[in-house]
Amino acid sequence: MADNTAHIGPVLLLGPPGAGKGTQARQIVERYGIPQISTGELLREHVARGTELGREAKAIMDRGYLVPDDLMYGIVAGRLHEPDCRRGFVLDGFPRTAAQAGWLDAFLRKEFFENEVRDSTGSYKAGACAPVVIQLAVDYTQLLLRITGRRTCPTDGRVYNIHFQPPKVDELCDVDGTPLITRNDDREEVVRERLSVYQEQTGPVVEYYRGQGQFVTVNADLPIAQVTAEIFGVIDARNECQ
Ligand code: AP5
Repeated sequence: MADNTAHIGPVLLLGPPGAGKGTQARQIVERYGIPQISTGELLREHVARGTELGREAKAIMDRGYLVPDDLMYGIVAGRLHEPDCRRGFVLDGFPRTAAQAGWLDAFLRKEFFENEVRDSTGSYKAGACAPVVIQLAVDYTQLLLRITGRRTCPTDGRVYNIHFQPPKVDELCDVDGTPLITRNDDREEVVRERLSVYQEQTGPVVEYYRGQGQFVTVNADLPIAQVTAEIFGVIDARNECQ
């Protein structure tokens, strides 16, 4: 494990549904000791709790569309203000529109790192709030297999895949034997909609970061451990620059 007191800063994982954002975010959490902030998970928690936001989001998520930006800002801001985010965090699933990317930039500059990251003289550490942006690139057919094959343990959140990481016993969690579930939006017709929403609405986010030179693409068609090694290399290289 890396130094758990070092400043890591924001790490953004971009990529289509099924690219492995959640899988890789969990590896980053383990190595760097920073929290994973998955907007999909935060929304699913609201759905499970039956909050007003959850009820509104459910109808949208079940059809494969994006939840309106205004609703997302409150959720993300609330989570980023929690103290465990001070050394850094990995964002999985946000930003997903050009407007969300602009909002996040402004948020990080004005509200987040400005008062947190100072050098030994007390001066603001230049560039400290610039995120590491990593795009996970995966072939379309592989994405369909990954999503339609995904199974999740509702008890501990462990993720399996019937094609690539099957549980030892069909449809049961290896750890506690709980029957695995399939996400509501992982049905093939919804998956196709999610993939086309990604092209149309998240494509511009990739261009937004590419234009700022903070952007690295990783070949996420490779086995999980190889993708993880590449991502660690990107994060370590960026931290050596600071
Ligand atoms: P969200 O939960 O963010 O879903 P997503 O982006 O569609 O991504 P997924 O969770 O499907 O995939 P992943 O990339 O995390 O892949 P995973 O690691 O699980 O969003 C859900 C919905 O919430 C959205 O549609 C939208 O409605 C709403 N929402 C969320 N954020 C929003 C926002 N910012 N704005 C507006 N709306 C928002 O891996 C998938 C499978 O592949 C697993 O089975 C895994 O084991 C396997 N796998 C992973 N890597 C590999 C590998 N290298 N080789 C083989 N198998 C692999």
